Amino acid sequence: MSATTAAGQRGLGLLDTLIEGLAACEEDPSLILVGRGSIPNADGEIELDASLMDGSDLSAGAVCAVRNICPVIRLANLVRVKTPHLMLAGDQAVRFALENGFEKRSLMTEEIVRKYDAWRDHRETEFTHIEHAVPHHGDTVTMLGCESGRVAAASSTSGWPWKRPGRVGDSPIIGAGIYADNEAGCAGATGAGEELWRGVASFRAVEAMRRGLSPQDACDFVINEMLRRQPGAAKYPCVVFAMNTEGEYGAAVTRDPFELWVWKDGEIDMKVFAPKLNP
Ligand code: GLY
Repeated sequence: MSATTAAGQRGLGLLDTLIEGLAACEEDPSLILVGRGSIPNADGEIELDASLMDGSDLSAGAVCAVRNICPVIRLANLVRVKTPHLMLAGDQAVRFALENGFEKRSLMTEEIVRKYDAWRDHRETEFTHIEHAVPHHGDTVTMLGCESGRVAAASSTSGWPWKRPGRVGDSPIIGAGIYADNEAGCAGATGAGEELWRGVASFRAVEAMRRGLSPQDACDFVINEMLRRQPGAAKYPCVVFAMNTEGEYGAAVTRDPFELWVWKDGEIDMKVFAPKLNP
């Protein structure tokens, strides 16, 4: 959803800026594909995924398919700082959360309960809906940050609306939904997670910058390769965005215009990236 080239907002460091920014998004029920009040899975349960990566030392943490815990971006960071692992999943991630002071709570809002009831009453067969429920670009929240040559990336999502229980997308996968390396830059993705994961979109964009491409050219390269090799990439909206260690950024999409929000030196800006007709 957004990229920021500024850290230190409210006096926070780079990683904490991304963590607290995403935590605020997770608590906001108006964002319906992230955190509390997001669209649940086919069983009517909200399952959350999140990840973050520090480009300084390549440390990373992620959680997936987590129920009744919010904000999961803070849990992902605890995986990074308190365990030797990169990811904890499902009930065992919840167990880790409870061991670390989180409390279980319902993340369903009244509005989402109503939406779920309406969906359940009208679906034709159990999972056919997934073809018709592709999230638009803006709902997963992925943030990039750059401060004095240090880069970081973080993402949080509830995944595809009405997803099959247990389904995990690109957002918590290091290399797919996010990647950061101070020696090259950082990148993130939103949209159809299966295609972005298949294309290892974020790692590929960072590696393209390492080879010398600008962030915009790196994103164009990744999206063009996805469109060339992945039949589903044109069918579903996918976006990759990237930032180098100078704070220069770019983005590219397979389908549908995408709004990239940028916070730089106290100014907020929004730039729309449309699909290129002749990639
Ligand atoms: N990109 C978010 C997801 O597919 O889960």
